[in-house]
Amino acid sequence: MRRKTMHESDFMSSDTLPVIGFICGSLRDESINKRLEKALIKRFKRAGLKTTSINLAAYDLPLYHGDLDLPAGVKKLARKIKSCDGVIVVSPEYNGGLPPVLKNAIDWTSTTGKAHFETPYWGIASCTPGPMSGIMCMRQINYILMRLGAHVSPVQVGVGKAQLAFDSKGELIAEPSVSLADNLIEDMLAHI
Ligand SMILES: Cc1cc2nc3c(=O)[nH]c(=O)nc-3n(C[C@H](O)[C@H](O)[C@H](O)COP(=O)(O)O)c2cc1C
Repeated sequence: MRRKTMHESDFMSSDTLPVIGFICGSLRDESINKRLEKALIKRFKRAGLKTTSINLAAYDLPLYHGDLDLPAGVKKLARKIKSCDGVIVVSPEYNGGLPPVLKNAIDWTSTTGKAHFETPYWGIASCTPGPMSGIMCMRQINYILMRLGAHVSPVQVGVGKAQLAFDSKGELIAEPSVSLADNLIEDMLAHI
């Protein structure tokens, strides 16, 4: 069982601040989920947390099949995830489910063990152009992570109608998404 208890004094030095990793399930330059990731990073920083963006495109992750040797990027990604106190997955919804780039990263790294799923506390967020805010993909990600032994926050940050959800500075402005983001931060702080 993980659980490092944070003491007030741990927040005194930036070296000991909890680190929250962000994984985006879209690699697209103009991704609305990257926009959400950036907006969440701003909020998490303002709450006094350290953040790191875990860019799946930067790891060697071919499409999984069992005849391939383990690519070096897989262990590197698992180590990076395990080094975080918390990890937020920010993902688009594809046909009611999670995108292949994210499932591929989960599947590859699961072949190396489960410690990187069990160690950080997890959160899930999703942004869609339509009103439904990715609830189906967030449910799937939640199920898969929990099946791998992850502790996952019950607070999911769904952001629908993406074109109205951010201001010109990239701040998240639409309710209930703003409140959900703040609730997620509060829940992460209580669990890391
Ligand atoms: C293959 C595919 C399937 C999609 N399925 C859904 C869906 O089930 N629900 C939804 O809300 N949007 C769906 N969309 C629209 C995406 O939410 C939209 O393209 C979004 O901008 C993708 O995220 P990104 O901007 O972060 O890349 C789908 C898009 C693609 C390309």
